[in-house]
Amino acid sequence: MARIPKELVDHIIQTADIVEVVGDFVQLKRKGQNLWAPCPFHNEKSPSFSVNPAKSLYKCFGCGKAGGVVQFVMDVEGTSYVEALKYLAKKYAIEIQEEEKTPQQQLEQNERDSQFIVSDFAKNHYHRLLLNSEEGMSIGYGYLKERGLNLNTIQTFELGYSLDSWDDLMKAAEAAGYDKKYLEKTGLTVIRTDDQGKDTGRRYDRFRGRVMFPIHNISGRVVGFGARTLKRDDRMAKYLNSPESEIYHKSDVLYGLFQARQAIRTQEVCYLVEGYLDVLSLYQGGIKNVVASSGTSLTEGQIRLIKRYSDNVTVLYDGDAAGIKASLRGTDLLLEGGLNVRVVLFPDGDDPDSYIRKVGDQRFTEYIETKSQDFISFKTTLVAREASNDPVKKAEAIRDVLHSIAKVPDAIKRQVFLQQTSATFGIDEQVLITEYNKLVKAPSQKAPDGRTSGGNSGSYGQGAGSANTGYPPSNNPRSAPAARPMTDEEEAEMLMYGGAEAAETLGTAFQPSSAKPEADDDIPDMLQVCEREVLRLLVLYAGREVEEEMSVAGYLMGQLGEYPLQKPLYAEMWEICRQELLAGRFPDARLLAQNEREDIRQLITDLATERYEISPNWRTKEIYVFNEVDLPKLACDNAVLRLNKVHVQRELDQCLEKLRHPLEDVEMFEILGDIKRLKELDNELAGLLGTVVGRTA
Ligand code: CTP
Ligand code: MN
Repeated sequence: MARIPKELVDHIIQTADIVEVVGDFVQLKRKGQNLWAPCPFHNEKSPSFSVNPAKSLYKCFGCGKAGGVVQFVMDVEGTSYVEALKYLAKKYAIEIQEEEKTPQQQLEQNERDSQFIVSDFAKNHYHRLLLNSEEGMSIGYGYLKERGLNLNTIQTFELGYSLDSWDDLMKAAEAAGYDKKYLEKTGLTVIRTDDQGKDTGRRYDRFRGRVMFPIHNISGRVVGFGARTLKRDDRMAKYLNSPESEIYHKSDVLYGLFQARQAIRTQEVCYLVEGYLDVLSLYQGGIKNVVASSGTSLTEGQIRLIKRYSDNVTVLYDGDAAGIKASLRGTDLLLEGGLNVRVVLFPDGDDPDSYIRKVGDQRFTEYIETKSQDFISFKTTLVAREASNDPVKKAEAIRDVLHSIAKVPDAIKRQVFLQQTSATFGIDEQVLITEYNKLVKAPSQKAPDGRTSGGNSGSYGQGAGSANTGYPPSNNPRSAPAARPMTDEEEAEMLMYGGAEAAETLGTAFQPSSAKPEADDDIPDMLQVCEREVLRLLVLYAGREVEEEMSVAGYLMGQLGEYPLQKPLYAEMWEICRQELLAGRFPDARLLAQNEREDIRQLITDLATERYEISPNWRTKEIYVFNEVDLPKLACDNAVLRLNKVHVQRELDQCLEKLRHPLEDVEMFEILGDIKRLKELDNELAGLLGTVVGRTA
């Protein structure tokens, strides 16, 4: 692993703003002290993913993922610690002096990192060839110019050219010291097999004599390529694409999203087109909020990606029959994803690329604005026209539209669509609603948990006399406790991370944290719990004063000198803190939560998020939750006394155990003496604990 000096690591972490970093991946909305978004790590419609800017932590109450800014990048990108730091350094223009890597260090790099790195190399290589080689300039660059693309666009999208050669990339990669294994794994080279499918040992470049379109993930790393041939040869596929790899999952990537994401957010709409060239032409024309599905039908993963940036999608497809079919296909999925979908069709024979080149940026924008139609109305008009004179077809068409309406999660919108549909088809609204209710109640639509499919196709009341209000039953995911945004009151209660329900389970002060420490068989639970509590105070409040000139860290170290922590991970953590103090610094949870060791990162994150601070209504309940922010000394005393008490209890148990075996008189008296002393100590500790607890009541 390439080492980044500790000071630089600290600098990167302190510079990185978690709200900005996370905000590149999801649409955060402020609610109280925290910001909320649908979780980027699991599928959900309502936000249970939160970011706490003050603590520089994120936590998902749905799937439980949590951590600091570096962990977030690791999680979202699936990279190593070092690569995550590099990502942040790049984002904040912090220079990292890269040391030459030894072969050993290269080996240590994780698999995905290696694939990212080799893809990046290939991208640069192709880009260089496009702009600097004779073949690239005349053929590749010439073609792109002819298609109206300028240098700026070529550079923004890092377009390239692959020479018409069997091994140009392979040779270049080898000369630069890359392991050919990764060229194979990313599909940049093809393994030649014989008739039986056995590896012949021969390799060749997959992309030859093509314009190269690097495909970026949302953080701008190249994960694969699309490659267009420039030959007019029908036997040759117009586009060749990278195969799936560990870093390239086609269903989770949208072409252009990396370049478009800010514009999608500010314009509050995402334009969805089919091809690479459509994206490039629109972007160059100043319409930057555009992404491509790359010719395949949309996937749920892609829809989830769009939804991170906007709730509105406008589908821009060719006006030919195929284009219309394509726009119908993906859209039910878009509706189901809770997106507001609009459709624009171009005149027959034109796609967005050709149309913008024909009419110019200004008129293109006007066209989209005036011609875009709500998807349901679009579909309704379309099928109504097709079925105008055939009653059987018409009934089918209506059912088809009703199916789409059922996918819309918003009840009010569904109501409006039903009204529109009844008008378009010239059918009584009540008849339509009856039909709709039949459809959503059909048994085939039932999900295993008994809810209607999609969780949102609530049925409608059939007229004024009905008890049904016309709103769907409460099957909204928001009613699940783990996955809903908090009310403001709950938010207020959640001074740190956590909530009222969790506080209920805290019970007594003898359960200082809701999270159970990981099992460590030979160390009793209670000891672990108490050690953890001491550690938590140390890590979170190190520099706070317990009394004049005495910090929490100094106080705890002084009090516990006698009993070092026994759980190995805690002992290590304790030692790290001690070293910090020796170096004249207080341990800083923000930095520690970014430590390069995963177990330490996890521990710190857990410690920082698991404890619930006191709130006014808890005082009345019998829960000894110290207001540790205001009364750190009491919190420390409490934790230390409890830990001491557990130790005393353990010694007592050991003495009693010894008494069960035959003993010499002398030994026996010694043990009985010990027991007496320990019991007194135990009582004393209990008394002290009582006064500590008493003082907070
Ligand atoms: N596509 C593909 N493989 C093909 C054909 C198409 O992967 N053999 C994908 C590409 O992502 C392409 C998109 O489908 O961008 C749309 O296809 P098409 O409209 O044929 O290509 P354009 O992007 O419009 O390219 P061009 O205008 O240069 O023909
Ligand atoms: Mn085209």
